[in-house]
Amino acid sequence: MLMVFVMPKFKIMQKLVDGLNGVSREHLTGLRVVRAYNAEEYQENKFGAANDKITKTQLFTGRMMALMSPVMMLIMNGVSLGIYWLGAALVNKEVVDLSTIMQFMMLASQIIMSFMMVMMMFVLLPRAQVAATRINAVLDTKPSITDPESDAPRTETGTVEFKNVTFAYPDSDLPVLKNISFKAEKGQTVAFIGSTGSGKSTLINLVPRFFDVTEGQVLIDGADVREIKQSTLRSIIGYVPQKGVLFTGTVKENIAFGKPDLSDEEVIAAAKVAEADEFVREMEQGYNSEISQGGKNVSGGQKQRLSIARAVAVKPEIFIFDDSFSALDYKTDKKVRENLKAASEGATKLIVAQRIGTIMDADCIVVLDSGEAVGIGTHKQLLQTCPVYREIALSQLSEEELGL
Ligand SMILES: Nc1ncnc2c1ncn2[C@@H]1O[C@H](COP(=O)(O)OP(=O)(O)O)[C@@H](O)[C@H]1O
Ligand SMILES: [Mg+2]
Repeated sequence: MLMVFVMPKFKIMQKLVDGLNGVSREHLTGLRVVRAYNAEEYQENKFGAANDKITKTQLFTGRMMALMSPVMMLIMNGVSLGIYWLGAALVNKEVVDLSTIMQFMMLASQIIMSFMMVMMMFVLLPRAQVAATRINAVLDTKPSITDPESDAPRTETGTVEFKNVTFAYPDSDLPVLKNISFKAEKGQTVAFIGSTGSGKSTLINLVPRFFDVTEGQVLIDGADVREIKQSTLRSIIGYVPQKGVLFTGTVKENIAFGKPDLSDEEVIAAAKVAEADEFVREMEQGYNSEISQGGKNVSGGQKQRLSIARAVAVKPEIFIFDDSFSALDYKTDKKVRENLKAASEGATKLIVAQRIGTIMDADCIVVLDSGEAVGIGTHKQLLQTCPVYREIALSQLSEEELGL
């Protein structure tokens, strides 16, 4: 009965614990927003609802478990009592002698003890089984991105090519990217522009193979990314994410993240390219200053500059900037791009940006609209031929500035 009634509850309970943890974490990470909108009560109610559910379930299983041992005791002692009662009568009638009854009693209590043990097992089993299922679910998950046996030969250097790439996220059918084709030659800068949600980050994440294409091919140095080992592939890419991510450790360790054996001079050179040197020097212990968890003790723009320095430090063949200049002011943005140009000549750059100014001088601009490339060309060409690009450009710069 216990197995039937209590086991499903244990399964439910795991989900409820997940839910409760989720609500608490959300509340804590978004604490300032919660306060700013006076949403404490709303969040508390959410927590209350999740908490109530788990309390109810836990009370039920707790009570069932608590009931177990008195019931078992009752049965055990009842059986002993019964044996003595019956035994006494039988001895009186001289059907059996006392020693037989005593022997019987001892055997009976051994059997009952074994039953008790089995019962204990049944109490622990449901929990263990639920936990084991969850552990196995994680262990049995096969990564969808797997390495090939060996690296395919790379026939070119510093090139990135998309061939009719269509991509849908694994949990949805709707393609986020539709039939994208372009090629970046060595040393070129290819920029991507488009409204939010148009698929820019998705497109750029296909290059380091964070996801595999649904259809088509992504080629790096002339080889399909699926035929190059992930470690090889990523060693030639310097990736700067949309949101600067730093790790606990010193500034130096963060910049030398991709190549821990970098010398101090190389770290400083990389920081200079990213215009980070100045503010790092102003920090109390310079390059040995500690970055706290999640980089909370540096500003958004500083985080982004350190992320750029981290990419510069590995001296990659291909740079990927996913809107990495957005938290920088116009002046710093321009300086960083100039420094990059000088420091990493020959490196191919893929840049996602919102500002026309950031990408105006790119060799090729891909305009994305709802996952489709609606225009590919230089700034000048696109102004003439691509209405979407023209609209974005005119919303940021005047006709005179654009030379129209
Ligand atoms: N992990 C994901 N799973 C499912 N859909 C996603 C995921 N990430 C983004 N999307 C969807 O893909 C589309 C493009 O997103 P994204 O590439 O981040 O756009 P952009 O960077 O241009 O703002 C959006 O409509 C978004 O809802
Ligand atoms: Mg994005």
